[in-house]
Amino acid sequence: MSKQPEPLEKLAETASIKADKKVFIKTYGCQMNVYDSTRMSDVLTPMGYGETSAPDDADLIILNTCHIREKAAEKVYSDLGRLRILKSKRAAKGENMVIGVAGCVAQAEGEEILRRAPIVDMVFGPGAYHKLPDLIKRSHNGGRGVVDTDFPIEDKFESLPVPEKKKTLARGKTAFLSVQEGCDKFCTFCVVPYTRGAEYSRPFRQVLDEAHALVDAGVQEITLLGQNVNAYHGEDGAGNDASLARLIHTLADIDGLSRIRYVTSHPRDMTDDLIDAHSEVDKLMPYLHLPVQAGSTRILQAMNRQHTAESYVRLVERIRAGRPDLAMSSDFIVGFPGETEADFQATLDIVKEIKYAQAYSFKYSPRSGTPAASHENPVPEEVMVERLKRLQTVLNEQQVAFNKSCIGKTLPVLLDRRGKREGQLVGRSPYLQSVYIQAPDEAFGEMVNVEIETGMANSLTGRRVLETT
Ligand code: 5AD
Ligand code: SF4
Repeated sequence: MSKQPEPLEKLAETASIKADKKVFIKTYGCQMNVYDSTRMSDVLTPMGYGETSAPDDADLIILNTCHIREKAAEKVYSDLGRLRILKSKRAAKGENMVIGVAGCVAQAEGEEILRRAPIVDMVFGPGAYHKLPDLIKRSHNGGRGVVDTDFPIEDKFESLPVPEKKKTLARGKTAFLSVQEGCDKFCTFCVVPYTRGAEYSRPFRQVLDEAHALVDAGVQEITLLGQNVNAYHGEDGAGNDASLARLIHTLADIDGLSRIRYVTSHPRDMTDDLIDAHSEVDKLMPYLHLPVQAGSTRILQAMNRQHTAESYVRLVERIRAGRPDLAMSSDFIVGFPGETEADFQATLDIVKEIKYAQAYSFKYSPRSGTPAASHENPVPEEVMVERLKRLQTVLNEQQVAFNKSCIGKTLPVLLDRRGKREGQLVGRSPYLQSVYIQAPDEAFGEMVNVEIETGMANSLTGRRVLETT
């Protein structure tokens, strides 16, 4: 997963629910963590915790961490250093502040966190956040902090409460819904199979119930989440495997739900039925985040990606044959060990061939415990920096070109945010672009048609019109 989460303040917008204690949750990393943070908050509501955006007056602070790229653990330790001061200020007033570290850094570091940061009361991995009430109780018994890095993800989903309608209403028109966790692909650079564990799909019925609860609370757009979401194979209740395509078709039948998205996918799991869903299901948005990582088949093999550059290009062609306006997005890693200038050129070539609407690109960084961390032939830092710059120049040009190609079109936009300017509302186009318009506040939460007037690097602007083109 790669999208940046919403700012912290956004996560804490639900503070209006009557509560006698306050929790501050800081979310690092991907959408999966954003989802997990909302579900932790759901678990805490019955315990009397409301969310706050001010760590100073929180009774409970949770750092929901990410381990995917460089210096993740160091960032967490430096945040914990700041929290140490906050906690001692509170202690001076005779008040307690419970500090928890959750997510993938917690999973990877475990006990080490308590050793390096004794102010921490609880360390718990992605498979354990449903046990928060118990962990909090145990941490109140004083003494050393508690650690829970057990894995059985299914226990977590079974124990989570259905999101409260009131809370979901406060969260708005778009929602994430986690359907799959973990990964069995073992790309040689990646920590996810170790921190999130083996691939697990939530039962079909459980996902449908959560989707219905979200739609009942006014959600119009659902993004299905998973580290390998298109590997989803839920059990449909009658003992049959239900694929992601089947899930999408079933969700599309829910009245009131207007848009479906899914992220993040592996090229190997783009099955025929999922490819067909892109042309068959109108509610499935024409946007696909399909990481390729590199354009050289030699490097893809060293990464254990299980696809070639050619098979990726053919795959995208097939999906676009049924959905010609499909906007593509990807992740790239430059400077994987052994990457030559010719390998890197192959990455630039595939970018030029596919034409991405947006993308994320990173310098390779070794993650300890992964096979690539011990590969020979590291690419020098200055070469990585230079390649990343060249790649990002092309990707940025493509993004601007895509945004400009929308000028003059009329696109449906779901207005789910308020802009910084007076009278400004913001929403997403079908292609996930942010679209800014001037509109009365009554339009907030509405799906409106917008004629696009300008296209910049990161957003579009336009005016509301009555009909689509
Ligand atoms: N170094 C650089 N980038 C990485 N990613 C994952 N692991 C690493 C690593 N060790 C990137 C991949 C992945 C995205 C979420 O993060 O591009 O798709
Ligand atoms: Fe990591 Fe590869 Fe699994 Fe994606 S598919 S989560 S990059 S191991």
